[in-house]
Formats: sequence, C-alpha cells, structure tokens
Amino acid sequence: MKLMEHTFLAITEAGVEDELAKEISGRFQVEVETDINKVYFKSDLSAVYEGNLSLRCMNRLILLLERSRFKNLDELYPIVKRVDYGWLIEPKRTFRIEVRRRGTHPFTSLEAASKIGQAVIDGYASSTGRKLKVDLESPDVEFWALIKDDEVQFGVNTTGGSLHKRGYRIYQHPASIRTTLACGLIYLSEWRSSEPFLDPMCGGGTIPIEAALMARKVPLDAFGREFAFFNLKFFDEGEYGKVKAKLKGEASDGPFPIYGIDISRKYIAGARENAKSAGVRDTVEFILGDGLNLNVLNFEPRFIVVNPPYGVRLSCPSLKEFYFKMINSVKKASSKATIVAVTTATNEFKAAARRAGAQLVEERRTFHGEMPGSILKLRI
Ligand SMILES: C[S@@+](CC[C@H](N)C(=O)[O-])C[C@H]1O[C@@H](n2cnc3c(N)ncnc32)[C@H](O)[C@@H]1O
Repeated sequence: MKLMEHTFLAITEAGVEDELAKEISGRFQVEVETDINKVYFKSDLSAVYEGNLSLRCMNRLILLLERSRFKNLDELYPIVKRVDYGWLIEPKRTFRIEVRRRGTHPFTSLEAASKIGQAVIDGYASSTGRKLKVDLESPDVEFWALIKDDEVQFGVNTTGGSLHKRGYRIYQHPASIRTTLACGLIYLSEWRSSEPFLDPMCGGGTIPIEAALMARKVPLDAFGREFAFFNLKFFDEGEYGKVKAKLKGEASDGPFPIYGIDISRKYIAGARENAKSAGVRDTVEFILGDGLNLNVLNFEPRFIVVNPPYGVRLSCPSLKEFYFKMINSVKKASSKATIVAVTTATNEFKAAARRAGAQLVEERRTFHGEMPGSILKLRI
C-alpha cells in the first residue's frame, strides 16, 4: 500500500540550504526545492521521525497543511479553517500560533496570530465537534504561519525548539557558532571522515564536536531532547522505535582524525567539557596552541572548517594580516587542503586569500548571529 504523501518544509540557516537539500534527498530519495532558509520536499509521515533524528543542518521540520495566496486577514481565516485537524491533534491538547511575517501588511503579527488561532479553533470544532484550548506559555502543539507578502504557508511544527540547540553545550563560548550552520560548513568542505579535519580556532569546540557526531552518526535525540511530534495524534511509538533502531545501526565508532586548536586555555577547557558532554571526548583531540602556526602539528590538516575572529577587537589592516597568516599557515602545513570559513569580514578574508594564493571556489551569504556575513570556500 502506498502511504499518503505530505509536503514538508525544513528550516535551516542561510547559506547552507543546498547542504540540507542534499541531506534530505540522500536520506529520503526525494526531489527537493530550496528557498532562502528553507527546503521543501514530499514524503510520507515517517519523515517526521527520521528527519528530526538525522538532518544535521535542519533547525525545524514543519508539516505543511496549507499554502495559499490571500489579500487580507479575512481571507486568511478560511484558508486555515478548512484544514482537517481531526487526524493531527487530540482534544485534550493545547496549542499556540507562531507567526513569522515578512513584507508590508496592514495588520500586525499579533493580529494575524489571533485570526489564525480562531480559525484553528473553528476548523477543529467543525471536523471533531470539540473545542481546542490555547496555551501561549507551554502549548502541546505549535502551528506555524509563515507569511511572506501575499502568501501564507501554514503547518505544524514537528520539532519543537530549534535543533541547533543540541543539548550538550555546557560551556558557552561568547562567540559560538550555531551547530546547524557548523554542520552545513562541514558538508560544504566535502570532508571524508578518514581524512584529518581541523578547526584551528575552535573556541568552545562546536565545529569539531559536530564533525565527530556526524562521523559517528549519533542521532539528534542523543542528549535528552523531546520532540513536538510526541504530542501529535499520528505519533506511533512502535514506528518511531523502528526508525531509532535503524539509525542506531548506522552509528560508527571511528576512530576519526578530528582536531580543534585554540589559543585560549579557558576556551580549550570549555571545548573539552562540551565534547565530554556530547560523548565524543575520545573522538576529538583538543590542542592548546596557535592556529597561525600549524607547522608544529604531527599531521597534515586536509579539511579546515573555521569561524575565525571577525574583528570586533582587531582593526581592518590587522584582520587582513591575521587571515593571511591563517591561510598561509595551512598552506605551509599541508600540500593540499580545503578551507571553509564563516566571517563577517568578507573583503578582508578574500584579500587575504588572494595574497596567500588560495583559490576562492565558493562564496555564499549567511548570518553569524544577527550580523550578515559570508561562507567562503578556498582550495590550496
Ligand atoms: C569566533 S571564535 C570561535 C567560536 C567557535 N566556533 C565556537 O563555536 O565556540 C574565534 C576563536 O579564535 C580563537 N583565536 C584567536 N586567535 C587565535 C590564534 N592565533 N590561534 C588559535 N585560536 C585563536 C579565539 O580564542 C576564539 O575562541
């Protein structure tokens, strides 16, 4: 029997959409469509379990229920009301509406949430005869409405809180990178897990820890996460158990040649704590040292993924010099290497790469926290 197909919207970080698209098409053998921060695909409901447990660049997985154009708030109401809620949510469950709005509208996000919330209550009542309750603080189920100009995409959040919060980070570095962005950068580097992988400025260790979890294929529920799909009516514990067992069977112990360097004793200690908490302390070697002097290493770094300082404290000329020394140091330590870096100082990094004679093979726009930045891929 062919299972019913649904449309999913997987949300990710800007700049790594195609890396998530490759994860999805590789895992589910489906066609994908990408947009900024988003990847769409069609699958049966088993993708809810397997996607949330295994897609490393994904922040959230939304099961889309409606996608439609509308002119005003009154037109939004019937679009949301006509959804069949009976198979999705039990009457004892509470819900909330999360609105993400882009474009200019004659209504606020709050007004849209209120209209959509009423449409859910009325739609649920007409398909089940029961009344659903709202809980704005800690609902069982969260519906998402992404409003962009005159289009609304309405669905249910199957993930819960963003997956970039893995749950292992006990030491918080002041400039840590999001785990999901880190995974996108690692994929972009095309690292093969048998080759030496290095973050020469690893801070709290996010990038090498994510590389280790990726190589070991550790499922994303490993750190005690509860998923929002546990509260959805179609949740089938037996099926979920089978997917978990399948993913457990894919896991691998290594060893893998993964290294992190930082010049700060405090940050290296924090990175070791984080790696221990993530269960990969034996998989990553953390070295207290200078990432601008890689000659001293007893291995040849081949895949370098790094989120270097971006100039809050360094002035522009010294930042250019710093980046040049970093790229040149890789060049001296390795006959052939790929560097993937994320920085908000794009021009300084590109000038440094030119001066070091490294080839810029890709450049993408992203955000580092709230700040616009770039992902740059170099070959040496
Ligand atoms: C933006 S932070 C990296 C954050 C990290 N990706 C994380 O998620 O925690 C940059 C790091 O570069 C380190 N750093 C600066 N100069 C360095 C050098 N010469 N060698 C090694 N690390 C350096 C800083 O100590 C800082 O931890």
